[in-house]
Amino acid sequence: MEVLGIDIGGSGIKGAVVDTAAGVLTRERLRIPTPRPAVPEAVARVVREIAGYFSWTGPMGVTFPGVVADGVVKTAANVDASWIGVKGADLFGERAVVLNDADAAGVAEMTFGAGRDRRGVVLMLTFGTGIGSALFVDGTLVPNTEFGHIEIRGKDAERRASDRVREEKDLSWKKWAGRVEEYLGRMRDLLSPSLIVIGGGVSRKADKFLPYVDLGGTEVVPAVLRNEAGIIGAAMAAARSARLP
Ligand code: BGC
Repeated sequence: MEVLGIDIGGSGIKGAVVDTAAGVLTRERLRIPTPRPAVPEAVARVVREIAGYFSWTGPMGVTFPGVVADGVVKTAANVDASWIGVKGADLFGERAVVLNDADAAGVAEMTFGAGRDRRGVVLMLTFGTGIGSALFVDGTLVPNTEFGHIEIRGKDAERRASDRVREEKDLSWKKWAGRVEEYLGRMRDLLSPSLIVIGGGVSRKADKFLPYVDLGGTEVVPAVLRNEAGIIGAAMAAARSARLP
């Protein structure tokens, strides 16, 4: 089944038509810079533009970089606070399913990527503007975990170890990897996952920093679907909610 997936990120809003049974994009994705300020109406205009570009009127999944419970936005750490309380279906239309960005990426990665067929506790962490998390137990998602906000050295973890911090502070890969390792070590101590999957845009450059990350016996691997995981996971969520394959 083909479903439109849209991934709202800090710098770009990306959309594509997805074959949700195969986990692949059937048409090349369209990326439009995230409007500034990224207020709901401005973002909704871009989402409509993407849907229009693909001549889309069917179900669509949309990711959001905050907690989304029962289709309602509850937090907005890295986007405008006016998002809090917004109901996804009111903003994007009745056929839209809205979910947390890391949860979407995690669902795609568990089905078609690095977490496929993995049982037990698997943790997906996305490193971008913030740090997103998706926790799975025998393949089932525990939604809205928000582990990017645990405290490390008196600070929100994502203020120390997100990819944005690496860029802003011009940290070397090795130095940043040290921060990531400390953070992952904490997550390992809290959750004892058998696998940690590293996602987000920076997963493309895993060879630059993962060699410096050693968690002893805990396996740490880069995401396979890279930047497309959010789009694919969003489309999968919409397909599920519309009861499509
Ligand atoms: C938000 C999460 C989001 C993550 C990645 C965090 O700041 O609180 O909900 O998944 O950033 O975008």
